[in-house]
Order: sequence, then C-alpha cells, then structure tokens
Amino acid sequence: MPDDARIIGAARGEMDAEGYRVFVENAVREFVPKKKCDPKDLKGFLARLSFVQLDATGTQGWSDLKAVVRQDVVQAFYFSVGPSLFGAIAERLHTHGIAGPEARIVVEKPFGHDQASAQALNDTLAQHFAEHQIYRIDHYLGKETVQNLMALRFGNMLFEPLWNAQYVDHIQITVAETVGVEGRGSYYDRSGAMRDMVQNHLMQLLCLTAMEPPSKFEPNAVRDEKLKIIRALDPVATDDIVRGQYRGSNTVASYLEDAETDASTTESFVAMKVHISNWRWNGTPFYLRTGKRMRGRMSEIVVRFKEPPHSIFEEDTGQSANELSIRLQPNEGMDLKVTIKEPGLGGMRLIDVPLDMTFADALGEEAADAPDAYERLIMDVIRGNQTLFMRGDEVEAAWAWTDPIIAGWEDRGDRPKPYDPFSTGPEEALMLLHKDGRRWREIRE
Ligand code: BG6
Repeated sequence: MPDDARIIGAARGEMDAEGYRVFVENAVREFVPKKKCDPKDLKGFLARLSFVQLDATGTQGWSDLKAVVRQDVVQAFYFSVGPSLFGAIAERLHTHGIAGPEARIVVEKPFGHDQASAQALNDTLAQHFAEHQIYRIDHYLGKETVQNLMALRFGNMLFEPLWNAQYVDHIQITVAETVGVEGRGSYYDRSGAMRDMVQNHLMQLLCLTAMEPPSKFEPNAVRDEKLKIIRALDPVATDDIVRGQYRGSNTVASYLEDAETDASTTESFVAMKVHISNWRWNGTPFYLRTGKRMRGRMSEIVVRFKEPPHSIFEEDTGQSANELSIRLQPNEGMDLKVTIKEPGLGGMRLIDVPLDMTFADALGEEAADAPDAYERLIMDVIRGNQTLFMRGDEVEAAWAWTDPIIAGWEDRGDRPKPYDPFSTGPEEALMLLHKDGRRWREIRE
C-alpha cells in the first residue's frame, strides 16, 4: 500500500477511531498467521485507520465522511452491506459530493435473487456510477488456481487443440464443502445451493473452462467470452438435475435444524448435467455438483478425454482415457492421468499413472504464500482492473439461466433428496452419471 493510503471504516454502530483500531487489531491477531504479522507493520497499518459513524439511509454522518475522504486519490468504496442498502449509499456518496468521477464501488453477492432483482440493482447503481466503476466480487475469481486455469489453457500449446467436443468426453466441476449452514441458516434458507453457489461460483468456473480464448487478457475481452458461454447454455432438463438436503447424525445437526425450520425444502446440494450449445462443445456434457456437509472439502475441475479411437494392444489391457484434473482447493495443483506400460515381463499391459504437480512442491514458499482471494481482488480494485469482476450483463444472464430451474422446482413442489452428512450426496446424484456410463471423481476426505 502506498504510504498515504487510508482506510476509513463507516457504520451505524457506536464506535470511534480508537475502538475501530482495537476491533481491527483483534481480528488481525485472530486471523493473520503470526509469522506474517510483524508488530511494526501492524502498528503502521493500524495508524492508517479511522472511523465515521453514519446512517446509510439517513443524513447523520455524511458530512463527517466528506471531511475525511480526499478527492485527489484513488477512491474505493466497499459496500459490505445487504443489497437493499446499495441504492441509498450510492445516492448519498453523490449528493454529498464524496465520490469523485473515477471512484470505484465494490459490491458482493448475493447480487439479486433472480434476474429481475439483479436488473433492478444494476439500474440503481447505474444512476450514480458507470459500469467501469462497479466491481461485483465473486471471490472464486480471486483464487490463485482459478486464474491458473486461464494460464494453463492459453499459455500452453498442449491443451487447447484438444479442448473441444472432438477430444473431450465430459467435464466435471465439483465444489464440495464439509461445513453445514450453521450460523447462516436464515440467509441460506432463502438461497439454497443453486443461488448461493451455482449461479455465481460454479457458473464462473464453467465459463473459464469452456470459453473461447479472449483476444487479450483484458476486462471486456474476457467478460465478453464468458457471457457467450452463459448465453449458450441449454435449459436443464428435469431429469438432469438432483437436489439434496443433508440429514443429521449423532455429531452434527441436520439441515432442518441448522435452518431453524422443520419444513424447509431448500437444497444444500445440487448436481446437474449441463449442455453448451456451441460449435466447440456440442455433445460434451458438463457435470456440476456442489454441496455442504460432504465427505471432504474439495474443489476441482476434471477434463476427461476420449479414449484413443483404436487400440493396437490386446483387448484386456485395461487401457483408459486421459484425465486432467485441476485442484482449486485444498492442495492446489493439477494432475494428468496418462497411460503407460506396466513394468515387468508380463507382456504389454497398460496402467494409468498420474503426472502430478502440486504447486506448493513445484513452487515452494511462493505458492504457500499466495494472496487470499479477497486480498487479490481488493488490490485489483485499487489498481482499476476489472478482469476478475463480473459485469452487469453477465450476472443478469446467469440469473436468466437459473431462474427457470428454480421456478420449475417451486411449481412442482419439488422436495430435495435427503443425504447423510459427510457422504457424497444423494444416491440419485451418482445415478446422474451412471446412466450415462460415467462416474464422478471420488471426493477425498
Ligand atoms: C460463499 C458461499 O460465497 O462461498 C458459502 O456463500 C460458501 O456458502 C463459500 O461456503 C465457499 O467459499 P470457499 O472459498 O470456502 O470455497
């Protein structure tokens, strides 16, 4: 951070600058590893903080804020509030002359609840800020390995020629978590896995995996290509989607207990088969799944290639297909399953072995010290780079695809299938692939 950078906290609650510094100091001590937290640096950091008490929907505090926000610097306003306050805050930043013409605002998900509400939020923000000033965060785009996906695809000659329906049998995207919704029950119960994870994080992973090469690594070039993928998604057939809800056990509460309602039909798990209707992907299904209270915390993208068209070896050699898996977390890295000859005199028997690259092994300390997704994204806001942020039309298009799926469930009174905690989800999710003669990758504990 430049020497004269300042962070001004603003909230409705009773607090002053000193109280805010203590609050931040406690959080830093709790969350930042000791070895990364030099006492001198911490002191310098805390000296940059100040605080203004203000009322987001009233008049109190706004002139105090104006008095401390400078106009001759990069301004970034981070709206860490519910979307119902976006409009009021955006308007006050303007009417009080606080936000300059190049000010940036940052907003988090949930960005709307459906297409209509996302459109309304976009319209509200557009009254006061231009699109190039609006940074819609999806923290998955800030993850190191997600960006690596683009480096892998567009920085190598090896993969891109095979990255299409002619050579790829199918693609799997899994985001599994072991946590439940405890503590966030009331938010989550209104969202469910579809709105909380699929519409944003999984959609972004799908786009980066499937999109055409942008002409430049530049905000609109990348976002144009992502948007084309979202618009090319087919509607999902009822039989191609499975919803689940976790049961309880001796040690953990059920979803219904966590959500504090015993009649909820909200899903904590979704698995689906998705088709992209374009030249590159016609005929290659993408299988997506995400869930809470799964067997392990594991996010990965798996590209399963087709088998060679003709085997020159004997029938029973067990030859299979190449598989590239990109591990987003934990243990960031990638491995490529290749077929080789089994060592020994037993004839030409083939076996699969992984070419494994764990980034921490290959890159050492540097990989282990990669910035957290939010650190990276906030830095991008300050630098004025929107490449890893969602554009308004992209968010609306993603809702336009998920809305009919959710409406279908509501119209049919669909009930999610129960699944055991720390499992792989409902049996029906396994069947989704089995019926196509395929298998999910195992979820590691
Ligand atoms: C958030 C969701 O956006 O992402 C949470 O609201 C989810 O429900 C979280 O747990 C997962 O993020 P990460 O970085 O832990 O995979």
